[in-house]
Amino acid sequence: MEAQILEIDATEWQLPATRKEWIAALEAGKVLYFPRLAFQPDAAERALMKPELLATGIRSITLEAQGRLKGVNGGPDEQAVVMRMMARFRHQAEQLIASLVPDYMKSIRFATTSYRPLQVETRQQTWRGDDKRLHVDAFAGRPNHGERILRVFANVNPDGVPRVWRVGEPFEDAARRFMPRMEKYRRWHALYLRAMYKTKKVRSEYDHLMLQLHDAMKLDMEYQKTSPQVTMPFPAGSVWVCFSDQTTHAAMSGQHMMEQTLHLPPECQYDPASSPLGILTRIVGHELV
Ligand code: SIN
Ligand code: FE
Repeated sequence: MEAQILEIDATEWQLPATRKEWIAALEAGKVLYFPRLAFQPDAAERALMKPELLATGIRSITLEAQGRLKGVNGGPDEQAVVMRMMARFRHQAEQLIASLVPDYMKSIRFATTSYRPLQVETRQQTWRGDDKRLHVDAFAGRPNHGERILRVFANVNPDGVPRVWRVGEPFEDAARRFMPRMEKYRRWHALYLRAMYKTKKVRSEYDHLMLQLHDAMKLDMEYQKTSPQVTMPFPAGSVWVCFSDQTTHAAMSGQHMMEQTLHLPPECQYDPASSPLGILTRIVGHELV
């Protein structure tokens, strides 16, 4: 398997220049890894970085695109410190993306910023929610009709603990492997799910296939163990970027991470044909949205 992780030796969020091979690697579903780029919490922020900062029953603190902060267990002072930390990370993620893939900026949409203070390895989850299993991101309630999910991650662990991922085979290999096992798309069922408010939009055939792929990967324990993959410990004080709807990934261990989600129409990529929508359309042989 060709290397799925590309190291970039930048030290500033605003890259001095971009390179065609970085963009091609990102759009091929590889992880761009910045070992010398760090999100730096200040002393007040660091003092709050504990799981107790989470409101009960919540897994991460989020700053919504519209500016609403959610999930903080604390008064106005704590809220202000957390808000500052999240807003700074969002700004830095924006600088990174704007300088890495400048053509995206015309059409990119900033979604949620999150801070995840929980330890990955002790999280209790159902198989479908278990991100310790290799998967591509696809969400049952949120059809996206092919819109891309781009994510900027920063390991902000204050004790030097790495965030350990597994990165698996290229998207097309996984899609071709699991395609024969996928259930057929039924439009009436998609309409029914929408009518019952189980999905935010009507699930397109693309969304159906992405969910089938997500589930099939997570359910196949032989695949989990034996498929081509690398284990990658992202050190504390590093950053990585990938299209998480394309990169096959699993989070094995670690604690304290910042994450910025961005959305992009696939037709606004440098190479739209490399998107999951492009790949799945080619495999299936007809329009999927
Ligand atoms: C995931 O997107 O599957 C989880 C990423 C992480 O928690 O490191
Ligand atoms: Fe994921």
